[in-house]
Amino acid sequence: MTTNADNGRTTVGILFGGVSSEHSISLITAKGVLGVLDHEKYEPVLIGITPWGTWHLSSEEELGRLMDGVALPRFTGEGPQVSLPMGDPSEGLSLKYDDASFETGPHLDVVFPLLHGPFGEDGTVQGLLELAGLRYVGAGVTASAVGMDKHFMKIAFESAGLEVGPYTVVTARDWANDRAGAIERIKKLQLPVFVKPARAGSSMGITRIEDWADLDEAIQSAQKLDPKLVVEEGISGREIECAVLDGFGHEMPQASHPGEIEMVGDEHVFYDFEAKYVETASSELRCPADLPQDVQDSIRDKAVQAFLALDGEGLSRCDFFYTDDGRVVINEVNTMPGFTPISMYGMMWAESGIGYGELVDRLIRLALDREPGLR
Ligand SMILES: Nc1ncnc2c1ncn2[C@@H]1O[C@H](COP(=O)(O)OP(=O)(O)O)[C@@H](O)[C@H]1O
Ligand SMILES: [Mg+2]
Repeated sequence: MTTNADNGRTTVGILFGGVSSEHSISLITAKGVLGVLDHEKYEPVLIGITPWGTWHLSSEEELGRLMDGVALPRFTGEGPQVSLPMGDPSEGLSLKYDDASFETGPHLDVVFPLLHGPFGEDGTVQGLLELAGLRYVGAGVTASAVGMDKHFMKIAFESAGLEVGPYTVVTARDWANDRAGAIERIKKLQLPVFVKPARAGSSMGITRIEDWADLDEAIQSAQKLDPKLVVEEGISGREIECAVLDGFGHEMPQASHPGEIEMVGDEHVFYDFEAKYVETASSELRCPADLPQDVQDSIRDKAVQAFLALDGEGLSRCDFFYTDDGRVVINEVNTMPGFTPISMYGMMWAESGIGYGELVDRLIRLALDREPGLR
């Protein structure tokens, strides 16, 4: 394991914020991880990305201040701008101050990209870290990109033999050149349908419609986040999630006990953004899910298959529907799931015998253990 020569601790770049609509969620995740990071073993180097894409050195003090009493915090970058050393990971970060002076900052032994959504969780930042020759936590370029794209994710799942629900894809080109054809394809699906941006998260831009009269508005709101859309038939069943954690070397990944998300009351018809982060009382997270043993085993098995189908690394949360007629249908995989002590990923591992602090430590050790480059 490489360590920072000055103090024997391993320097961990904590990358948070970002330009996606899940900027605030990333700050919440970063605070959660920092809260359990073993500071005697690891020295965190905070790097925040503003909503407009500039990278700045930050601190635990700054992050704490931004989050104080704010439900959806924003990182605005008060510290010097940061660039990664390209090609030689033993070099320090390059820091640029407002007066245009430069300084060399700490070097990073490993990076924890706690970013959700496009330009963070989708392989772009992972590609940058690969080019910089830096080790990093979680999925590589391909798995991150496929795991962000609800269209290609389904293709990967189908080819691995996992059941996905009926869907159709509408690209920007389809919409520009053959709108009538796209609408015809959509209307072959049974109502209700879910209209989704292909590459978003936290339920942003998703509308459930029960009437074709609402289709146009649903398409427009999804297209605000992504020119490519996925429209899916609504699946009637329970929402079951399962956490996957990678093994070291060539060990197989492990799956946690499955957990369930149950909506309470009728305020929210599905697990939308408000239900996830604002009105959290509108849903209950339960782990383990109350399911027959054979169904739990099958879901754990499918979660590992889904992780492997994407060439996953590090961690993933695999989300399923357990249908009213007893089928397990995969919805999606998140390669950097919301990751706080109270979020489902942490909860499912706690229930399966791995506490949140141990989980963070294991993810960092997995990343340090992984050779940079093709693997
Ligand atoms: N095909 C579907 N059938 C039933 N519910 C769905 C379907 N697709 C999405 N949902 C509901 O919408 C929520 C968000 O959709 P999801 O595809 O998981 O997007 P995100 O990546 O934003 O989490 C799900 O947790 C579920 O409650
Ligand atoms: Mg989801």
